[in-house]
Amino acid sequence: MAVKEVLRMGHPVLAGVAEPVVRFDDELRALVADMFDTMAACKGAGLAAPQIGVPLRLVIFEVEANPRYPDAGDVPQTILINPELEPLGDDRLESWEGCLSLPGMRGLVPRYARLRYRGLDLAGQPFEREVEGFHAIVVQHECDHLDGVLYPQRIRDLRDFGFEQALFPRLSSGAEPDQ
Ligand code: NI
Repeated sequence: MAVKEVLRMGHPVLAGVAEPVVRFDDELRALVADMFDTMAACKGAGLAAPQIGVPLRLVIFEVEANPRYPDAGDVPQTILINPELEPLGDDRLESWEGCLSLPGMRGLVPRYARLRYRGLDLAGQPFEREVEGFHAIVVQHECDHLDGVLYPQRIRDLRDFGFEQALFPRLSSGAEPDQ
């Protein structure tokens, strides 16, 4: 178990398409443990394996109710492997996203408001959920990492992108934790 370095935007692994997980073994369990350690050390809401330099289709996320992030709500601790996302309806939400690979920055990003996601858990067992709101935003942000997409590529107007301290001078952080 170890806290790993989080790669920053510009690193080629973050721009690549990750490979499906095929082995559910001790190596995978060790990787997931490292990802949770790293996410906790960074106080993040989610982390994708490519962010620590491992190009596999694996993301984790977890958000406990936190008064610092009143809009974030509760997202159960989840390990999501080889995910597939299916939007439910056309409704979109916009929120000020942050990413551990772009520390100190925020951008206003539209996402599907509701979706169904499917994938495998750490034992290789399939599961699916229907989610909305911040849970849906986190899943879309993390799964984008598996296709080499970082949130700035989703911003409609780049004037809605900048340094957190300049955008929100009276707050210590944006509306939600980094992912
Ligand atoms: Ni991110």
